[in-house]
Amino acid sequence: MKVTKAVIPAAGFGTRFLPATKSVPKEMLPIVDKPTIQYIVEEAASAGIKDLLIITSRGKDAIVNHFDKAYELEAVLERDGKDEMLRAVREVSDKTNIHFTRQREQKGLGHAVLCAKSFVGNEPFAVMLGDDVVVSEKPCIGQLTEQYERYGATVLGVQRVGMEHVSKYGIVDCENVEGRMYALKGMVEKPKKEDAPSDIAVLGRYVITPAIFDCLERTPKGAGGEIQLTDALVMLSEYEKIYAYDFVGKRYDIGSKQGFLRATVDFALAREDLKDEFSEYLREIVKTM
Ligand code: G1P
Repeated sequence: MKVTKAVIPAAGFGTRFLPATKSVPKEMLPIVDKPTIQYIVEEAASAGIKDLLIITSRGKDAIVNHFDKAYELEAVLERDGKDEMLRAVREVSDKTNIHFTRQREQKGLGHAVLCAKSFVGNEPFAVMLGDDVVVSEKPCIGQLTEQYERYGATVLGVQRVGMEHVSKYGIVDCENVEGRMYALKGMVEKPKKEDAPSDIAVLGRYVITPAIFDCLERTPKGAGGEIQLTDALVMLSEYEKIYAYDFVGKRYDIGSKQGFLRATVDFALAREDLKDEFSEYLREIVKTM
């Protein structure tokens, strides 16, 4: 079965970027000139996702507006012959069908995904977290949907993060099946270094079977007093096989200041219209350091 639906949870407070995120949703912070959530939407669209559900919360209307049509702005750009800008504004919402719902209470990632239950219905679906931006030749979520189509089971996108970082992630215990594919044996949310089964972390990309919703409904509060997607996946693994796929690509943790800064520099250097002047500037800075 083809995976055509994706869920993007975007309901969190974004406390790591306060005060910027007091009135601006963290998903709207730009890397160069595009809001971070747009990179995620573009990744989904280029992997053939037809319907996307963005889970928002109070104070996040800027996300909804971003993916709406902007009649007045488009008319002005058209009048002034600013074709390139007009194209950039229009293509934001043209790539896939975008739906929205609100998570009314912030009860964690697992609870946010549960808000997608009626949107998803009885199909496998992708979950894409906005804090993880992945640059790769083949879209990261497309790599996972491809594996879903081969194995017909839930696939988690993973990479090694180093033992010093395990306490920030869902960490898996797994066994190699073939190539980049692993069978999941266990999983723990944000373990201490000494309790971690490995340094292989789930990095914000999942393809999950709809049986997860029954598990989410039965999942008690876990780490941080929140309903954790990780705990529901562990429950699901008692009934169904789950795989972890070591995806190819460079992943930025843009939920952290360091990751955000790195993404900004790398994305600017990858842009034909910016790279020459910007790299010259960086060279000057390095000389004076
Ligand atoms: C979430 C998940 C965690 C995963 C991480 C990836 O944590 O709960 O399992 O490894 O995203 O970024 P969060 O970063 O929302 O605390």
